[in-house]
Amino acid sequence: EKILIEPRDGLVASCLSNLLQTSAEDVLASGDTFKVGLSGGSLVQLLAQTLPNITTDWSRWYFFFCDERIVPFDSSDSTYGDYKTKLIGKVPVTEEQFIKINPDLSAEDAAKDYIKKMSVFFPPDRVPCFDVLLLGLGPDGHTCSLFPGHKLLNEASLWVCPINDSPKPPPSRITFTLPVINNAKKCIFVITGSSKAEIVKRILQGRERILPAARVQPHNGYLYWILDEDAAKFLETA
Ligand code: 6PG
Repeated sequence: EKILIEPRDGLVASCLSNLLQTSAEDVLASGDTFKVGLSGGSLVQLLAQTLPNITTDWSRWYFFFCDERIVPFDSSDSTYGDYKTKLIGKVPVTEEQFIKINPDLSAEDAAKDYIKKMSVFFPPDRVPCFDVLLLGLGPDGHTCSLFPGHKLLNEASLWVCPINDSPKPPPSRITFTLPVINNAKKCIFVITGSSKAEIVKRILQGRERILPAARVQPHNGYLYWILDEDAAKFLETA
């Protein structure tokens, strides 16, 4: 199921906070913890604006990384480092609630280590089922660190894989694979800016089936695209 939301500028944050708030309420009411996968890039600043508007039991949220760059946390390229600077302090979450990579390992070992860390939260014999995955979109159609034409798109069993030849720097990263992404309860693309308008149109109204972001099709969950006016400007609306 695809729900397309096209708020005017500035409404993206409130749209996202409403969606996260109601998603968290449902999960927390069931007695479970709320497990969210984060992406990097422009999403970090947007979440720093969005999350403080949410009323919730923050102590039961856990943040994972849909992808992460293998760099020290104090590097400006570290997605966790970016969240740490921009988010912790604005909402009452602790560093322990972020399930972080080990940046001292190779991408191969960091991916294995991350799978181990996920196994504390998810039964090891089944594909993890995240409550929400927050996804970005590159102008080339990538999402997480799954890039067009890359062999990682064919990964069918591992939860997390290393990549050492990312076309977007830095080159070494780990990334969730499509089986994990498509097993989430909610996949939410959050896309702003006119540099994304063309690829958004190709994916949502073209015949794209091959591009990584077009292959995000949760089996049993919901797919949302939250766009600002600039990112949605080439879409034909009825
Ligand atoms: C990264 C992110 C990546 C991101 C997209 C979109 O490495 O930058 O983890 O997956 O979500 O590249 O990034 P922007 O929103 O900054 O364009």
